[in-house]
Amino acid sequence: MAVEVDLFKAGMRRLAGHVCIITTAAADGTRNGLTATAVSSVTVSPPTLLCCINRSASAFETVKETHRFVVNVMPESEREIASRFASGDSGEARFTTGSWMTLATGAPVLTTALVAFDCRVSDIAEVGSHGVFFGEVQALHISDGVDRPLLYLQGAYGGFSELS
Ligand SMILES: Cc1cc2nc3c(=O)[nH]c(=O)nc-3n(C[C@H](O)[C@H](O)[C@H](O)COP(=O)(O)O)c2cc1C
Repeated sequence: MAVEVDLFKAGMRRLAGHVCIITTAAADGTRNGLTATAVSSVTVSPPTLLCCINRSASAFETVKETHRFVVNVMPESEREIASRFASGDSGEARFTTGSWMTLATGAPVLTTALVAFDCRVSDIAEVGSHGVFFGEVQALHISDGVDRPLLYLQGAYGGFSELS
């Protein structure tokens, strides 16, 4: 029998996550996105990653319909953008700051992301409340900067430091 939801949540709070924002664009060009840590590499051939998006997220249907999304891996310096993509007004309002461009799919790429993976959806699995989107990477942008990653643990943002 599966463990209680609250116990599962308490356990997952101890799993440090790399903060990403998943961005997409509707057929008419309207952009949207959300903050996410449920992102993983899947396979290198073809280069594929996955992200898990709650069906209640306002960007869910756009990713499902357009089959395009970008995983923008966030640096510490862009914490404000990460917060904005996790609550409040959705859609274009989330793009009022930041420097944006597009690569292969037309979904928005944050130029200051540590790395941005521009993906075409190759498969979708629906598990409970979430869609698991497999994305074949069509293009990627690696930032010139040497900024550190933005992490999330125990409900708080933080940073990375090497062990000596
Ligand atoms: C650090 C962090 C990680 C998150 N990870 C995910 C995730 O992996 N998948 C997801 O669907 N929502 C995740 N969320 C929640 C969404 O960012 C949040 O529900 C967002 O408001 C959804 O977009 P909407 O407001 O446009 O519906 C995360 C939130 C935070 C703060």
